[in-house]
Amino acid sequence: MGLPEHLVSLPLDEPVWDRFFSVFPLVLVGTREEDGGHDLAPKHLAMPLSWGNWFGFVCTPRHRTYQNAVRTGAFTVSYPRPEQIVVTSLAAAPRCGEHQDKPALLALPVFPAQVVDGVLVEGCHLYLECRLDRTLDELDGNSLLVGRVVAVHVHANALRNDDREDNELVHDDPLFAYLYPGRFAVIDRSQGFPMPAGFKR
Ligand SMILES: Cc1cc2nc3c(=O)[nH]c(=O)nc-3n(C[C@H](O)[C@H](O)[C@H](O)COP(=O)(O)O)c2cc1C
Repeated sequence: MGLPEHLVSLPLDEPVWDRFFSVFPLVLVGTREEDGGHDLAPKHLAMPLSWGNWFGFVCTPRHRTYQNAVRTGAFTVSYPRPEQIVVTSLAAAPRCGEHQDKPALLALPVFPAQVVDGVLVEGCHLYLECRLDRTLDELDGNSLLVGRVVAVHVHANALRNDDREDNELVHDDPLFAYLYPGRFAVIDRSQGFPMPAGFKR
């Protein structure tokens, strides 16, 4: 039987992900530079790996983020708020000058990570500190960096608890969604997922 008429099969000689929208998070990955400074770069290919305390993101080995994480064995993850979108984007501005600096990082105040050597971005609502466990290389010029989460810090207002409804929490502390390629959405309304009766993970 053929495909339903409304479906378009895409050629695979080019990556397909620009051809439609999909939902991703957007995080700032922080790493320690060789000269003792820090680097921050936005990543949307980033998510928990399993229900355990693992986190992974995709990065090309050409990026300083990859090189720093592999050299130091650590990285941090800061989840920006919707109002931090412009400074988050600026962290992807091209490097410039003799030392290939990223002046845009001056717009992102940071404070020290507590367990790994690194920095966390001020004003975010969730932070992870990770030790690099392994890399999965050669994904057509990209790599998956797998980190074990060794510390987590959450803004008190974003922390789920019995005293507040989950929908109220999302409303009061909205989430940021990156809609690849090149759009974003602020999520401040949500509904409980209709789990099947008896569902177990
Ligand atoms: C919205 C957005 C999402 C991005 N997501 C990724 C990603 O998931 N993986 C990646 O390797 N680069 C991603 N980039 C590109 C890097 O952030 C960018 O090339 C950055 O300058 C690399 O910096 P670095 O060399 O300091 O690591 C993204 C850029 C933007 C603007």
